[in-house]
Amino acid sequence: MQEWEFRTIIEPFRIKMVEDIPLLTREQREAALERTGYNLFRLLASEVTIDLLTDSGTGAMSANQWAALTLGDESYAGSRSFQRLEAVVHRLTGFRHVLPVHQGRAAERILARTVLKPGALILNNTHFDTTRANIEVAGAEARDLPIPEARVPEAEHPFKGDMDLDALDRVIAEERDRIALIMLTLTNNAAGGQPVSMANIEAVSERARAAGIPFFLDAARFAENAWFIHTREPGYDHWDLTDIARRMFSLADGCTMSAKKDGIVNIGGLLCTNLDEWATLFRNELILGEGFPTYGGLAGRDLEAMAVGLEESLDHGYLQYRSRSIAYFAEHLEELGVPVVRPPGGHAVFIDAGRLLPHIPKDRFPGHALAAAMYLEGGVRGVEIGSLMFPEAKLELLRLAVPRRVYTQAHIDYVIEVAERVAARAERIPGYRLVEEPPFLRHFTATLAPVR
Ligand code: F0G
Repeated sequence: MQEWEFRTIIEPFRIKMVEDIPLLTREQREAALERTGYNLFRLLASEVTIDLLTDSGTGAMSANQWAALTLGDESYAGSRSFQRLEAVVHRLTGFRHVLPVHQGRAAERILARTVLKPGALILNNTHFDTTRANIEVAGAEARDLPIPEARVPEAEHPFKGDMDLDALDRVIAEERDRIALIMLTLTNNAAGGQPVSMANIEAVSERARAAGIPFFLDAARFAENAWFIHTREPGYDHWDLTDIARRMFSLADGCTMSAKKDGIVNIGGLLCTNLDEWATLFRNELILGEGFPTYGGLAGRDLEAMAVGLEESLDHGYLQYRSRSIAYFAEHLEELGVPVVRPPGGHAVFIDAGRLLPHIPKDRFPGHALAAAMYLEGGVRGVEIGSLMFPEAKLELLRLAVPRRVYTQAHIDYVIEVAERVAARAERIPGYRLVEEPPFLRHFTATLAPVR
């Protein structure tokens, strides 16, 4: 792959289909916020100008993916589309058993319902919330073992997603019999989209094998993780990205994957393993909830799009543009004095709302206050990851996740300008109080009101 020699990293695609973006007046945005009880999850998409709520299922498929859709074989069992997907996943991951599922949490649910017993312990760098919820519903314990730097937004570390190996050694020494599974989430979404180094994956794998504990990857953002290994970890700059991905997967016994992220499909996921006995349990459980093991809750055409998307996700030019555009976004915010989680991660920019809005206490939700201010100012929708989402949260963040291949640099420049205006009147941004609160996952449906 030839290195790009220009200062400007261009979007490595041109646009052949467009979708209108809603442009609203401030009065319309104010009315929308009031109507929804100041909860951005309750907005209509037609009320959002730039939607950075998530990078999940929101990517733009390529012409090749759209073309592949037409090849979908909709046979109930043994479809050609499954064979095609299976071949791609075999090549990429080396896993023998490949089960399609409708999205990542379906893979997590199958895993949790088949191999976790009440009282079991599962270790991870940081569990994503659906992974944690599925583990806890099975009566098991989900324990996070991130390195200490992961909890400090301004700490510089090339692989802030790494697992704390000393903590892992301690838990294995003290609680070996309870540990049912060790996982690594690549990249570590809940901790800022931070990557995990190959050295750390190797070290975790070695310990898991020595202790006889199965080791799985949550591979939702495996391609972005491979990119960071390629560019940040000594010894990997000459490695092909596919070889890096293959090496990562080869160290594990299996993976769950939401293909809605790096797989660049609007719906889809995978559950893969080399453990024959677990694969049998997975297949039986999959039939109960997802369908037949060769389609897993998806149409044949979805399998085709996923096969193509997984291959495109490791394209060098695409990943270079992707990581550069997130870094560009973060750097420009920092230049304006907006504090962000360092270094920029793979799929999102996380603004440290706790630091930007020091006048708002935790129980008045600084991350939410910033999210509402960004929407009011320019119709930009992000998601609070702080005390509203997790009442015990240590950090008050606003995540601005960037959908894949959807927005151009001009869109990001606009978001930066909106943030600049918001930051300029930071001390006047109000906190919020809860008006109505559901019993669980309150951030999705709660209503709030500004406290002036
Ligand atoms: N694992 C990780 C690391 C994730 O980020 C997600 C989803 C899942 C698993 C679950 O996958 O949504 O396909 O069922 N993350 C989305 C987000 C929702 O916005 O970060 P899913």
